[in-house]
Amino acid sequence: MAKLWAVKPMSALMNEAREEGEHQLKRALGPVNLITLGIGAVIGAGIFVLTGQAAALHAGPAVALSFVLAGVTCAFAGLCYAEFAALIPIAGSAYTYGYATLGEFVAWMIGWDLVLEYAFGAATVASGWSGYLVSLLQDFHIYLPPQLTTTYGDVLYFYNAHWLPAGSMPMGMSTAGLQHVTGIFNLVAFLAILAVTVVLVVGIEESANLNTAMVMIKLSVVGVFLVIGIGFLLRHPHLAHMNWHPFVPPSEGSGRYGWGGISAGAASIFFAYIGFDAVSTAAQEAKDPQRDMPIGILGTLVICTILYIMVSMVLTGLVSYRMLDVADPMALGIDATGVRWGSILVKIGAVFGLATVMLVMLLAQSRIFFSMSRDGLLWRWAGKIHPRFRTPYLSNIVVGCIVAFLPALFPINRLAELVNMGTLLAFAIVCAGVWILRRRLPDMHRPFKTPWVPLVPILGILTALYLIWTLPALTKEVVVLWLIIGLAIYFTYSVKHSKVQKALGTERK
Ligand code: ALA
Repeated sequence: MAKLWAVKPMSALMNEAREEGEHQLKRALGPVNLITLGIGAVIGAGIFVLTGQAAALHAGPAVALSFVLAGVTCAFAGLCYAEFAALIPIAGSAYTYGYATLGEFVAWMIGWDLVLEYAFGAATVASGWSGYLVSLLQDFHIYLPPQLTTTYGDVLYFYNAHWLPAGSMPMGMSTAGLQHVTGIFNLVAFLAILAVTVVLVVGIEESANLNTAMVMIKLSVVGVFLVIGIGFLLRHPHLAHMNWHPFVPPSEGSGRYGWGGISAGAASIFFAYIGFDAVSTAAQEAKDPQRDMPIGILGTLVICTILYIMVSMVLTGLVSYRMLDVADPMALGIDATGVRWGSILVKIGAVFGLATVMLVMLLAQSRIFFSMSRDGLLWRWAGKIHPRFRTPYLSNIVVGCIVAFLPALFPINRLAELVNMGTLLAFAIVCAGVWILRRRLPDMHRPFKTPWVPLVPILGILTALYLIWTLPALTKEVVVLWLIIGLAIYFTYSVKHSKVQKALGTERK
């Protein structure tokens, strides 16, 4: 039984981090690559889709404060991730940190839980991506078979030259008499995941370069949105004055407006921040991880928080928060300025933006499996490196082929809730890990130190648990089921193949 709590020795981790050669990942990433990797993972469906819903349904113009609140929650976890990623620059992220501090069993459960963040995260975003792509194509009168652009059973109506789900129809409009179809399989999202998988197999440098290019496009589009929006608001200050007042609308019930609405808004836009921790999974591919990991993680968080606050302020200044419950709020915002090409530009930004999120999420997923396999806790094929591309290609291919089915079959909101829960669990465990390791090995050289330990880790744990508590019961049940499946794999395969346990056994003999 004690074996379950076996920790992986820090010396073994340090040796692994130093290993080089054709069976290892390639160290090709500098600080700028890491920040763009982070922004690539972070700015996506959260800002392009969820901001509008959070403003309309929860916080009103004070959604900017929801972003501050969610940003602070992530900052606690981000500081802890930065300490670990500089200290243990291994691709396994929270899984590896758990192995070094809380023992093999907990590490396994975190690794398994991270599938919910990364694999399901990529699937969620693929779902949003397909919506934006299909809408953009329809702006140019290009129509894919609508049955193959949404999940099974979803009804789409033909209105204003676009196929729209009922929720995106203008408020109060009747769908009776409109041409409609029922969805079969979201082939667009399915193919998107497969295409990203191919890029990931071909190489980390290629993936990072493509990611950097797409992140630049996404940031430019966000920048154009801000410039046009701020310019318009400066010329029409009465509009901003009208839309921002009252900044915190009076409460209309639990979680809707008032101060309670700000915290409900924070729980729902938490998804927008997910991904900064994915930077830590590239630690084994960073040229100077001890210096650059904290820069990559915390730089990503700071840049994204600033952008989110600005975008949400401009958006709620341009359009009344009550009208923002739409699938493409930023496109609606720019439409309000009268710039006619604006909404097409925003959709192009979203298509590129969401593609980078999928790329980094799937990259992170394969790196976690790679680390688990190298530790003997997952099948050996998951740790196999392609001799030419130097990527964990089998892990990429298997993950990609399975994940592709998720957005094709399941609705986006169910997937997103699982992602939130999986991520929050990992955050809580990483925060606990930093605290535990500080007590266990206080004198260890830490290239980056989380300030005010244990206060910051404790706040990180409490805020993560609070947000988990706000999630629906069904999500919690599905996650428990997922963890039970993980237990079954652990006890039937991992315990028998664990390298740490084998080493412990040899030492005892
Ligand atoms: N933060 C990522 C997004 O908003 C997951 O799409």
